[in-house]
Amino acid sequence: MAARTALTRRCAALTSFRALSSPGILSHSRHLPRRFLATPSDQSTDASNGTAIVMLNMGGPGTTDEVGDFLSRLFMDKDLIPLGPLQKYLGPLISRRRTPKIQHQYSEIGGGSPIRKWTELQAREACNLLDRIHPSTAPHTPYVAFRYANPLTEDTVKQMLADGVSRAVAFTQYPQYSCSTTGSSLNELWRLSKKFDPENKIKWSVIDRWPTHPGLVEVFARHIEESLATYPAGEREKVVLLFSAHSLPMSVVNRGDPYPAEVAATVWAVMQRLKFSNPYRLVWQSQVGPSAWLGAQTATTVEEYIKKGLTNLLLIPIAFTSDHIETLYELDLEIIGESKQPGIKRAESLNGDPIFIRALADIAKAHLEGGGRTSPQLFLRCPKCTSERCREQKAFFRRQQEEPTAAS
Ligand code: FES
Repeated sequence: MAARTALTRRCAALTSFRALSSPGILSHSRHLPRRFLATPSDQSTDASNGTAIVMLNMGGPGTTDEVGDFLSRLFMDKDLIPLGPLQKYLGPLISRRRTPKIQHQYSEIGGGSPIRKWTELQAREACNLLDRIHPSTAPHTPYVAFRYANPLTEDTVKQMLADGVSRAVAFTQYPQYSCSTTGSSLNELWRLSKKFDPENKIKWSVIDRWPTHPGLVEVFARHIEESLATYPAGEREKVVLLFSAHSLPMSVVNRGDPYPAEVAATVWAVMQRLKFSNPYRLVWQSQVGPSAWLGAQTATTVEEYIKKGLTNLLLIPIAFTSDHIETLYELDLEIIGESKQPGIKRAESLNGDPIFIRALADIAKAHLEGGGRTSPQLFLRCPKCTSERCREQKAFFRRQQEEPTAAS
């Protein structure tokens, strides 16, 4: 019931966004190139000057009709789901078979993913703040580049070129780096830059990870504290905190992907901020297919803890910056809803929390203040990486760094 109530609240937010997105209000804001959508006084914003802040994420289908295309792109991405030499055939086949089931899941959470709404809001608000706290690189123009859904990275890159952008920051919205997520987005960005911007009119720098940024840690900690406050005083300190992150195939983990260590770093930092007030575990969700994935699985963990008599569990989505299907459907409806345990709850996602927006602006400010330097970690390939895409992508972004622009 608690899960349903929370879901109703979140779906209402999604519905109100849809109303806002009706023609004439936000419908043309595919990439949010101008903040006059939000603030009439910003109509003079000129993307050809200043700095483009490009939020990278996987995206999600805005409607159930978009699910097929979304899954097709997802299962064709060799960086995310390596299916071997038959990927060209297997990808479309798997996506076609999964589409009806996933469409049903999206219909259960209000008919589409809210990730675009939240990412656009985060981008816009963070840029507004950046203009104030780092005016030397203003105006900061928000763009959104999704890997598998609209606004697609290709459309955003084309739009940026049409807008005359000359300086851009690729800002991953995955706080913890994985070659499957941020790596995939950067590979796509490199590929598209080569195709559409061979003269390198846009100079890029990259914010590739921020797993322990104090603002990120603070907003997670506050959301946990708010949820803990809903438990009776005598039970509160015994609530088990289950930090849940999207899992990875073990083939990716064993290749040397940095994601598990970086997610663990976030969990540790949040627990430090909470003064280790509660017992906790890091668990992994959303496994797909029969191969081995990183565990323990979130769903199994909840079942096993219930059997052990632990029915006060707080789930915390620790690797997502906003709600999407993995929180609204998988955690809220499947795991929490089906447990029928009132003590099993979920902490709110970061979404539009002003502390989180401030954190985004601070991360970008620090990056720009440092001359737009990318962390050395980005240039170190996984020990078992054999991907030419990765090699070329890293060489591309390294060259960008070696040719600083006036804006940086
Ligand atoms: Fe990690 Fe290529 S797979 S750098």
